[in-house]
Amino acid sequence: MFVKLSVLLVLLMLLVPAEAQDLNFIYNDGFNGRSGLNVSLDGIAEITQNGILKLTNDTKQKSGHAFYPNPVTFKNLENDTAFSFSTNFVFAIRSEYTTLSGHGIAFVIAPTRGLPGALPSQYLGLFNGSNDGNFTNHVFAVELDTIQSTEFHDMNENHVGIDINGLHSVKAASAGYFDGRFKNLTLFSGKEMRVWVEYDGTKKQIEVTMAPIDVATKPSTPLLSLKYDLSTVLYKTMYVGFSSSTGSVLTSHYVVGWSFRINGQAQDLIASKLPKLPSIPGKKRSMLFTFGVPLISVSLVLLAVSGVLYVINRKRKFAEVLEDWELEYGPQRFKYKELYIATKGFREKELLGTGGFGKVYRGLLPSSKIEIAVKRVSHESRQGMKEFVAEIVSIGRLRHRNLVQLLGYCRRKGELLLVYDYMPNGSLDKYLYDQPEVTLNWSLRFKVIKGVASGLFYLHEEWEQVVIHRDVKASNVLLDGESNGRLGDFGLARLYDHGTDPQTTHIVGTLGYLAPEHTRTGRATTSTDVFAFGAFLLEVACGKRPIETQGPEDVILVDWVFSCWNRSNILEARDQSFGTDFVAEEVELVLKLGLLCSHSEPAARPSMRQVVQYLAGDVVLPEVSLLGLSSSGVTFAHREGFDDYAMSYQSSIGTRFSHSSYVAESALLSGGR
Ligand SMILES: *[C@@H]1O[C@H](CO)[C@@H](O)[C@H](O)[C@H]1NC(C)=O
Ligand SMILES: *[C@@H]1O[C@H](CO)[C@@H](O)[C@H](O)[C@H]1NC(C)=O
Ligand SMILES: *[C@@H]1O[C@H](CO)[C@@H](O)[C@H](O)[C@H]1NC(C)=O
Ligand SMILES: *[C@@H]1O[C@H](CO)[C@@H](O)[C@H](O)[C@H]1NC(C)=O
Ligand SMILES: *[C@@H]1O[C@H](CO)[C@@H](O)[C@H](O)[C@H]1NC(C)=O
Ligand SMILES: *[C@@H]1O[C@H](CO)[C@@H](O)[C@H](O)[C@H]1NC(C)=O
Repeated sequence: MFVKLSVLLVLLMLLVPAEAQDLNFIYNDGFNGRSGLNVSLDGIAEITQNGILKLTNDTKQKSGHAFYPNPVTFKNLENDTAFSFSTNFVFAIRSEYTTLSGHGIAFVIAPTRGLPGALPSQYLGLFNGSNDGNFTNHVFAVELDTIQSTEFHDMNENHVGIDINGLHSVKAASAGYFDGRFKNLTLFSGKEMRVWVEYDGTKKQIEVTMAPIDVATKPSTPLLSLKYDLSTVLYKTMYVGFSSSTGSVLTSHYVVGWSFRINGQAQDLIASKLPKLPSIPGKKRSMLFTFGVPLISVSLVLLAVSGVLYVINRKRKFAEVLEDWELEYGPQRFKYKELYIATKGFREKELLGTGGFGKVYRGLLPSSKIEIAVKRVSHESRQGMKEFVAEIVSIGRLRHRNLVQLLGYCRRKGELLLVYDYMPNGSLDKYLYDQPEVTLNWSLRFKVIKGVASGLFYLHEEWEQVVIHRDVKASNVLLDGESNGRLGDFGLARLYDHGTDPQTTHIVGTLGYLAPEHTRTGRATTSTDVFAFGAFLLEVACGKRPIETQGPEDVILVDWVFSCWNRSNILEARDQSFGTDFVAEEVELVLKLGLLCSHSEPAARPSMRQVVQYLAGDVVLPEVSLLGLSSSGVTFAHREGFDDYAMSYQSSIGTRFSHSSYVAESALLSGGR
């Protein structure tokens, strides 16, 4: 508040001559001009109150830029050789999900202050579809990329790359640093990390190094080293700064400090002087805490100190959130302490699996000795929680032998715990793909298929309300002790609907199981469930995922089954592990039914009632030739699904979106296990 004007003036005066050559600047105590330096922002970039450069502000599909306001001289007048330069900065990327982030940050040298025409998402706010890769761009960048975009040949979803005029990195490496041996770093861990970018104008050598914030001196082995003459890329004067973009996941990109120098070593940033990042929400201590407060009535004085400490610890450990409106749900509400004991303190050993929605633990309820599975779903948004819990409770009243029973829930700050019946044999997908240890024979698969169909039929038509599952897939089908298929995880997808702005269409589901009209309108219906069930039928019969990435091409299962059928040999598509031990009529029925359910027109798909009848053999499946499927029909349905899915996020920008980065994003979004 009380900035000494004179000091500021002196600083400003000092800076003016420095702008020309051998520029040297450092933002060590924020970007809000305290050191006399400001930055030029555009897009959704902003400076937080305490001076952190926040390139993106929790808005999807946007980009933000921040540039040093003055032009930087990169060449002298006499010859055309680019100067050496050195820069280092501290960044952090925070995503709403722990398993997935929305794109990255790039340090950039560009001809203009800002990058007009550049796109968000996988383009990182640097380029667009038409200028990507063109040498006329004159852009040098170092990308810290958290999404694998196969169109740009990205190596993985956590890499650092040197980009020259395009997003297909000239050289890239998995994020990490050398400290004796190589240590991985996760770019979107939310933690602050340092990056050094150096160019030696004599050797024509670019080096990129990174390290965690507490490693103050640059590791001696760089992560990336590339011989490249930047004289051809850089003009005499350029602008230096950062670019960042978000995709479909709420993510914030921060630059906490930055130092830059022409013809010399940039100063290192002093960690203690950097502005502090906001604390991660959810880590904050719970205030709405209600777990029983024991009344210490005896030996007050003697026990005071140790007693109070013990109680505080315990309170914190077992704290949960209970609001008035929940009181009526008493029987379905579990105490956190009970779940904690049941799962032996959520021990790693009890971990059954991890999905996008959260971790699942095995437990044994101390009171009833019932085996349970507890799913911990992190959920920050309080908005819509009441409706969601009401739904959970009502779902808890569903009873069907092919549904995994939801026993109840518990709420903590930022977290929801769902308690289910324990299914000893795990989920179906692990018996289908990736050379499973145990494969299921056809008769078991057929039994599972019929069971799941009957469970879904119950949800759609037999209960008092229509329940839409929204995420039917093999990994959500669990096998009970008698190898019955049971559909699990229903309703969970709605959590993310309730939690978001009703104006944004938040599609939850898994790519490959998403009906085209679902991606177009964002509305889930019984028909979109049938579409997903179709994909499920095909995966069970073929032992393949709906979309398998094989080399550069994605193999779309439904296309392939269709092509087998088109060659009058639909049985060729079956899982070869059956050997000869299968009933041809049944396999054929399932495959054809799978195609029928995958029809792009919702009206052409059967209802679950019909599906159950076809599978039971009560009604004969219409002749295949009457299905009204054409090769382009089925294929198009799926391709269209992708494009629409893309468009629903991108339409405002009007660009094509690549499938590949979607597969990565949405598969995770859906919590595919
Ligand atoms: C940055 O500071 C300069 C000089 O102090 C001023 O002219 C310019 O408008 C400022 N830019 C921004 C974006 O605040
Ligand atoms: C992000 O910034 C944009 C543009 O400044 C603004 O319209 C939007 O409301 C901001 N979003 C959030 C979540 O602050
Ligand atoms: C260009 O000029 C710089 C200094 O002015 C000098 O060090 C460098 O050798 C020159 N390069 C060429 C190719 O002449
Ligand atoms: C791509 O960016 C360039 C500038 O870098 C711009 O001139 C062009 O119009 C943009 N193209 C599209 C399709 O937005
Ligand atoms: C590169 O961009 C220039 C102008 O910006 C354009 O004339 C040229 O056709 C582009 N080249 C390619 C291969 O797209
Ligand atoms: C580091 O990351 C790479 C690439 O993701 C992975 O192959 C490797 O196993 C990781 N190493 C450790 C120690 O986590």
